[in-house]
Amino acid sequence: MKDNEATLILIKPDGLVKSLTGNILTRLSETKLEIVAAKMMRVSQKLAMEHYGHLKNEPFFEELIKYIMGELHRRRKVMVLIYWGHKAIQKVRELAGETNPETADSTSIRGSYGRITTTGLYENVIHCSANPQDAEREIKMWFNPEEVIVNLYPSKENIENSIKRRVWA
Ligand code: PPS
Repeated sequence: MKDNEATLILIKPDGLVKSLTGNILTRLSETKLEIVAAKMMRVSQKLAMEHYGHLKNEPFFEELIKYIMGELHRRRKVMVLIYWGHKAIQKVRELAGETNPETADSTSIRGSYGRITTTGLYENVIHCSANPQDAEREIKMWFNPEEVIVNLYPSKENIENSIKRRVWA
C-alpha cells in the first residue's frame, strides 16, 4: 500500500521495570499497524552511542547512554520492535506523545508513564523514530535483514566463513 512505512520502537528499561510492556503494546495496537520484527536485547555501549550519536554534546548524553543500557534501572534489556503500515511513524508518535513526558498529552504513553529525573533526564518509557530517514538508520542499526519479515530495504547475502556463530546444539 502507498505510504506504507516502518518505524522503530524501543520499550526502554523503565518501561520494563514498571511492567508496562502489555499496556504499551495494547496502546500501540490501536494503530492497527503490523509488527514485522520484535526481540529482547541487551544494549551495548557501542549501540547506545550509535543510536544517540547526534546528542553527544548534550549535557544529559552520558546519563542517556546509561539509561538505555539499563544501568539506571538494573534491568539490562530493552524490547525492540518494528511497526509497519500506513503512516506508521506519525501514528506511533501521536500515541507516544511528546518527547518531554511533562509536556506530553497526559493520555499519551509518555504522558501517562514517563517522568523527568531530578538530574533532568527524560525517562519517557519508549523511543520511536522521528522521520523516515531516522527510521531507516535506526532499523538497520538494531536489526539484521533476516530478523524482519518484510523486505524493508535492499539487502544482500554475505558468505563469511571465518565468522564464528552460536547455533542451537
Ligand atoms: S526527538 O523528539 O526524538 O526528535 O528528539 P531528539 O532531539 O532527536 O532526541 C532527544 C532524545 O534525548 C532524550 N532525552 C532528552 N532530550 C532533551 N532533553 C532532555 N533533558 C533529555 N533527556 C533525555 C529524549 O528522550 C530523546 O530520546 P528518545 O529515545 O527519542 O525519547
